[in-house]
Amino acid sequence: MNSILITGGAGFIGSHLVQHFSNKYPDYKIINLDKLTYAGNLENLKDIQQSPNYHFVKGDIGDFDLVKELMEVHQINSIIHLAAESHVDRSISNPMEFVTTNVVGTVNLLNAAKACWNDNFEDKLFYFVSTDEVYGTLGETGLFTEETPYDPRSPYSASKASADHFVRAYHHTYNLPVKLSNCSNNYGAYQFPEKLLPLFINNIKHNKNLPVYGDGKYTRDWLWVVDHARAIDDVFHKGKMGETYNIGGFNEWQNIDLIHLLIEQMDEKLGRPKDTSKELITFVTDRPGHDKRYAIDANKIKTELGWEPSVTFEEGLNKTIDWYLENEAWMNNVTSGSYQSYYEQQYAKR
Ligand code: NAD
Ligand code: DAU
Repeated sequence: MNSILITGGAGFIGSHLVQHFSNKYPDYKIINLDKLTYAGNLENLKDIQQSPNYHFVKGDIGDFDLVKELMEVHQINSIIHLAAESHVDRSISNPMEFVTTNVVGTVNLLNAAKACWNDNFEDKLFYFVSTDEVYGTLGETGLFTEETPYDPRSPYSASKASADHFVRAYHHTYNLPVKLSNCSNNYGAYQFPEKLLPLFINNIKHNKNLPVYGDGKYTRDWLWVVDHARAIDDVFHKGKMGETYNIGGFNEWQNIDLIHLLIEQMDEKLGRPKDTSKELITFVTDRPGHDKRYAIDANKIKTELGWEPSVTFEEGLNKTIDWYLENEAWMNNVTSGSYQSYYEQQYAKR
């Protein structure tokens, strides 16, 4: 039987993954270890909190004794590690938290896995969920492949790249069975409104300014979070040991074009005349070191594992907007309290 420790399962992607595994594999045991930082929210998991195969533990991935105890008590044979500080702007204001959680926390988990599995790695797996940002930035053309050299350029991406290197080093040095995947920008329900899409959805709804960094001509590849969870499932079950899989939506957008599409869909849903909310667009001071373009070649996972996105971007965006409009209480909860001061600090000076 699979007994899986998922870290960061109360966050955006983690909560989708926990739900996916808990629902699809009722005979697996899912242990969710999450510190419940500002980004962690048990509301995200209310649909499965009573499921017999699911168990939540509040705790820090940096706590070796806790992780070791959990692994022993629940006879964990696989770890899917997502817990992280995940927002680039916060990494620019406070890099050390990113080192502590993303680098030291990951090495702590690797050490706990190695110790608990006692160097007997048969049927064991340490799966690290990483980002396309480790590859740096692209010019007008080209795509990140699994062979693209690492060139992280923000404290966030440097911390994730460092963690990737440690995961690979434990494979090469100690034979720890590992898999990695590096994904592009996710969007969907339960995303904390510090990230572009939920922030802009919330601001459009409340007729607040839309702070577009720089000239808005930055490019990202976007993937519906449910499809990321499906991809992790495929890599977990069918991916080759020791390998990396790039995951992406085959779906590049310049920020400003994406914002126009968002405005078009939202004005229609809110019953506003077409393009009304374009007036909210405000070009603000750029993010320092802003990476120009990310684009993922996801052909390895497509051809080797048969995965591909299940929805078009227009469909995914439509579902996502509907979810935020229907779940006003969720948004109100996460934007009360410390969110207000974060917003002031982040945007007042721009
Ligand atoms: P998120 O910020 O929404 O959630 C992170 C979760 O980790 C939260 O629940 C938080 O409470 C928890 N956490 C933070 N520090 C912890 C600690 N020390 N111990 C235990 N739990 C802790 O992040 P997300 O967007 O869901 O990203 C999840 C993972 O996927 C991250 O590793 C991120 O780097 C990676 N990733 C994200 C994206 C994206 O577009 N969001 C894309 C590619 C990869
Ligand atoms: O590529 C994968 C990465 O995608 C993940 O590893 C990160 O965890 C995730 O946060 C995301 O990083 P980005 O920096 O690309 O996402 P963000 O939503 O912060 O920004 C998307 C783009 O929008 C980026 O070019 C910056 C711009 N932006 C963002 C915000 C929050 C704005 O113009 N204004 C804003 O207010």
